[in-house]
Amino acid sequence: MIEKVTARAFANIALVKYWGKQPGFNNVPATPSISLALKSLKTITEVERIRSGKDSFFLNGSIVSKVIYRRLVEYLDFWRNNKLIDGKFIIRSHNNFPTGAGLASSSSGFAALTVALSAFSRRKIGKHQLSRFARRGSGSAARSIVGGLSALPIGADPAARLLLSGDEVPWGMVVIEVEGRTKKIGSREGMELCRRYSPYYRQWITLANKDYRKMLSALRRLDFSRVGEVAEANALAMHACMFASRPALVYWSPATIEIINSVWQWRVDGLETYFTIDAGSNVVLLCKQEDLKEAIRRASRLKNVRSAIKSLPGGPAEIIELS
Ligand code: DP6
Repeated sequence: MIEKVTARAFANIALVKYWGKQPGFNNVPATPSISLALKSLKTITEVERIRSGKDSFFLNGSIVSKVIYRRLVEYLDFWRNNKLIDGKFIIRSHNNFPTGAGLASSSSGFAALTVALSAFSRRKIGKHQLSRFARRGSGSAARSIVGGLSALPIGADPAARLLLSGDEVPWGMVVIEVEGRTKKIGSREGMELCRRYSPYYRQWITLANKDYRKMLSALRRLDFSRVGEVAEANALAMHACMFASRPALVYWSPATIEIINSVWQWRVDGLETYFTIDAGSNVVLLCKQEDLKEAIRRASRLKNVRSAIKSLPGGPAEIIELS
């Protein structure tokens, strides 16, 4: 009988954003999304079966908050209620990047946990099904199961599919962590605020579907400029939907805008890079691999930048140890 499993997953950054949920309880996105998994943003999760007591969770060595605890127990209950696993577990998760700062930690977190749990299951669970399960934990995690460049469509119970494996993607990203705000309103709450209170929510959903099709077509041609343009416009549209919400949802800090302006200037100067921004103030640059070094050099020199991490594309979530 398996007692302990360690799994690894890479966080992903969306080029076409998932923002909004369909009504119901299965955490089904209202927008289709496309993302790139990043080798440098890694979660390692160890899941250990326990004989007695209750589930417990540690994130980077500390006990998780009540809110996160509830969310994780709910997720384990989903597996238990469907007779996929039984018993209780101790879960220890480590991120090698800042957690909860709009850096997609739930994507790699739930993906690593999902893959680890599958090892305890008596049933063999395919990749597709694992992606569906991970989605219930966190929508973006469905994409980290697959890794590389992956797409999560909309539908009744969607799973992510691989568009290009990490090795086939000739691009990378620079994740720029800015000084200032920490994230106060999580993605889940932010999406609900937008759905209820943003006058642009419907337009956002329509636009996201168009951007998804444009992005798929640009990716088929590996058309970097087009991919970058669509990604940038899509992120700005998502934030416009947030800004217009009443009350307003503004994740940006002054440094965010400084970076946006710098990226536009760099393009004029000949460094072709594009930005995207998740539900936070940090900015992520999409670059050709040969430009990653120059992009990180420039990003690190900007005011109010706390750190800049460059990354090549990452692969799927995997079990790395079983005992
Ligand atoms: C802005 O996957 O964190 O990063 O399903 O509620 O856990 P939940 O949301 P989550 O949302 C990600 C939002 C985003 C865009 C994206 O990754 O597509």
